[in-house]
Amino acid sequence: MKKLHNKVAVITGANSGIGLATAKLYLEEGAKVVLSGRRQDALDKVSKTLVGDFITVTADVAKPEDNKKLIKEAIDKYGKIDILFLNAGVVLRPTPTHEITEQHYEEVFNINVKGPMLAIKEALPHINNEGTILFNNSVVTQRGFDGFGVYSATKGALRAYQRVLTSEVKLRKIRVNSIAPGPITTPIFSKMGLSKDVSEEMGKGFTRQVPLGRFGTPEEIAKSALFLASDDASYINGIELEVDGGMSQI
Ligand SMILES: NC(=O)c1ccc[n+]([C@@H]2O[C@H](COP(=O)([O-])OP(=O)(O)OC[C@H]3O[C@@H](n4cnc5c(N)ncnc54)[C@H](OP(=O)(O)O)[C@@H]3O)[C@@H](O)[C@H]2O)c1
Repeated sequence: MKKLHNKVAVITGANSGIGLATAKLYLEEGAKVVLSGRRQDALDKVSKTLVGDFITVTADVAKPEDNKKLIKEAIDKYGKIDILFLNAGVVLRPTPTHEITEQHYEEVFNINVKGPMLAIKEALPHINNEGTILFNNSVVTQRGFDGFGVYSATKGALRAYQRVLTSEVKLRKIRVNSIAPGPITTPIFSKMGLSKDVSEEMGKGFTRQVPLGRFGTPEEIAKSALFLASDDASYINGIELEVDGGMSQI
């Protein structure tokens, strides 16, 4: 039997990178998948590459009304939610503390923290008992990288919130876990607004700090997102799983 047979999964930021790889794997494993993203054109494009039972919903996680819309459309179509993967996130341009602006702070916090919290608020009444909530955090909560202050603070906030949520939903046996990826080859780096040279140097710097000596792939994170969402992880709750080639451990 497929690992997610009859399960309904909602994935934010599913038009790209880790979210897209996870949507593909969940579909292969029998899930019905709601892919959301903030750009309709990007969702339309990836829809052509997907096979299985899915819908797409255009929703900007930073907008409260869009989170309502996302969950409403998911429920209208499939009637329940078993897996909620809060994956959408941004880094923006690396910015040292003395250059952080209120606008930068608000954009990253609104997408990375407010978005998941409000999506969960909307989804909770519809998540089945024994369902799963999964965050996409980062090793940046365990290692300090210059210029990544705001981004790292958002992921630390999610980790703290995850502990509270794990307790709040315990009577419903909902499992709440996180993945903490190391550097993963996705479009997130090209969205930082860096020149090719600077981006490549940054990539080399990250690679040197990974014991396995390479970036991970979105598919490697998707496999962990499948494991944590499936019955294989039925007694795993409240954890953050580092999928980082060992970066956070040395
Ligand atoms: N790649 C890494 O090295 C790495 C490491 C640790 C953690 N992560 C985390 O992994 C998650 C996925 O990132 P990724 O690496 O797969 O990057 P990605 O390919 O850029 O995917 C991010 C997704 O989130 C979407 N998104 C951004 N802002 C949104 C908003 N306001 N509303 C809805 N969707 C929004 C993006 O849409 P657009 O295409 O419109 O931008 C995209 O679909 C993020 O939370 C990131 O922090 C990544």
